[in-house]
Formats: sequence, structure tokens, C-alpha cells
Amino acid sequence: MELMRVLGDLDVSGKRVFVRADLDVPVGTTNDKRPTTNAEQVTRLTNLRPTVDWLVQHGAKQIIIAGHIDRPQKPDPAFSTEQIKERLEAILSRSVIFTGNFDREILEDLVLLENLRFWPGETKNDPEFAKQLASLADVYVNEAFGNSHRNHASMVALPSLLPHAAGVHLEEEVKTLSGLLLAPKRLFVAIVGGAKIETKEPLIEHLAKIADYVLVGGELVRELTVNGLQQLTDNSKVMVATLTADTKDIDEVSIEKFKAIISGARTIVWNGPMGVFEEGFEAGTLAVAEAILASRAYTVVGGGETTQFLAAKNLLSHFSFVSSGGGAMLAFLAGKTLPGLAALE
Ligand code: 3PG
Repeated sequence: MELMRVLGDLDVSGKRVFVRADLDVPVGTTNDKRPTTNAEQVTRLTNLRPTVDWLVQHGAKQIIIAGHIDRPQKPDPAFSTEQIKERLEAILSRSVIFTGNFDREILEDLVLLENLRFWPGETKNDPEFAKQLASLADVYVNEAFGNSHRNHASMVALPSLLPHAAGVHLEEEVKTLSGLLLAPKRLFVAIVGGAKIETKEPLIEHLAKIADYVLVGGELVRELTVNGLQQLTDNSKVMVATLTADTKDIDEVSIEKFKAIISGARTIVWNGPMGVFEEGFEAGTLAVAEAILASRAYTVVGGGETTQFLAAKNLLSHFSFVSSGGGAMLAFLAGKTLPGLAALE
């Protein structure tokens, strides 16, 4: 990847700044089962603070925060970003004005825009919608690592129209995840769990070229068998767990094998639980978490479910770095080019 522009490269003094943020956090709508206090909530919104502080300190005239929540097909109050206004005010220690109206001139200092996915142009990367957004600001900052794998207007078309840069946390994400791929301290152990083999197969394949071990658990184990992905398991670096009889968790033998490998690691990256912890099958995930934290390794974790589990166990803050990305983290570590990051070069 070419050099990404960072905040220090941007003159924001007296300027209106559009901050594309990771606002996709649980808001307690009926089809959103994530607890509203989960870790994504805390990390994604708190990640905004250093960037907003930096912009204020460097004389930005106005800060417009914009992002999306979930995947609404049309405007729907259940997905309105207005619902996170108060939490944002508490995190930023500043008052925030909410608006869903792009047509008026926005005069307030700190503004929260309505869910960008209420406009069909957002997910279509529509240049006209991007122009409408660009008219609101003079410069653009991407503080939405979690959405950087999406080829959407506020991620790609918009930064091509304005001077642009990565926010403080996004820069740190890229440095941390690139560091894992380029110069990990060894032993380097990657742990991949959860479900959706289609998104995790490229990740396992790529990490198997870089890491010393890739430990695979969770629903992926069953999916690997169903999909006949034998070539992944033939790689001697890839260790696939065996499951308990009910297939809801990894078994004792696998837990012991994984613990032994983890104990010698100097770098660990983890995405995806080892079992269906939501239904109480948490032994594998907990044992892996405790083994990781007992090691001397530099530890990176990401993914909504994994961070939710760790936050509930009060273990999340013990990790060296918590990625704000789910799909974006997987795509980055699979060696893919993320459109939202490419747009910042
Ligand atoms: C995420 O939460 O992973 C991002 O906000 C992307 O959301 P999406 O999968 O709905 O595009």
C-alpha cells in the first residue's frame, strides 16, 4: 500500500471537517440482538475522541461526524444515528447537534449526521451523493476502519473530492495490523473461530503463509468439513480443532493443544470464538482467552462476538490492541486492498 495520508498532513485550521466514523454499534432495535453495552459500542465510539480532540486543537471551524448503523433499506427511526447522540456527547465531552437535513447550511460546531445508509447513493458509491456530502465540508477524515472494506460513497467517492487523511485510530489500526503481516515477533500464532468460512478461508490461507500456527475453532470446523476444504487442513501450520459431541465447542484435547502452542507465542492475533458461547458453550473460548493473556505475547483481538465475550468477562482491556474492525480486520489480514484505505493514499 502507498503511503496513507494522516492528520498531520492536513491543514484543518478554520476548515469544516467531515469525519466518516464507525457508528455501527448496537442500538437495541428489535432485529439487533447485540447488547447495547457491548465492546464494539465502547471501542468504536471512544475511538473518535482522539481525532475530534486533535481537530479542535488544530483550529477546525466545524466537525461533521457521519456514519451508518446496520443495513437499513430506507429511512427508519430504528436505525437513526440520533440514538447515539447522547453517548457521543458523553464520550466527546461536548454537545452535539443532530441533523438529517443536508440541504440546509449547517452552522453548528459539532454535528452528527443522520445514518448515511438512509440514502441509496451511499452503498452505491454514487458520485452525486458524494458531491452532496462534499459540499458540506472542506476536508475529509476517515475514522471508520470498521467500514473500510466497503466501496461506499462516504468511504471512496467522497475522499476523492476533498483533501483527505486517516484519523488517529485508523492510522493505529493500519500500523498494528500491517505490523502483524510484515514483522511479527515469533512465534506468531493466529487464532480464527466463529462462523462464515467464506469470509475466513482467505484469511486462514493468507495467515498460514505468515504465521507459525493458525489455530481454527468454532463453527468453522464443521463448515470446513461440510465444504470439503481439505487443502486448508493439509497445511501443517493450520491446526483445526476437534469439536465436542454436540459440536457447540472445541473439545478438551484441542483446548490443551491450543494452550500449549499459545504459551510459546510472542505475537497473537485472534478473531472469532471457539464455541457458541451465547448458549453457554464457552469453555473453549474462555480457555483460549486465558491462555493468551497468560502468555508473554503482543496480543491483537477483533470481531464483534469475540470482543463482546471478552468485555463480558472483563478481559478485553488486557489485550494489547483491540481492532475496531470485524469484516475489515479479516479482509486486511487476508492481504486484500481495502477500498476505504486505498482512497486515503
Ligand atoms: C461493520 O460493522 O462490520 C461495518 O460497519 C460494516 O457493516 P456492514 O457489514 O453492514 O457493511
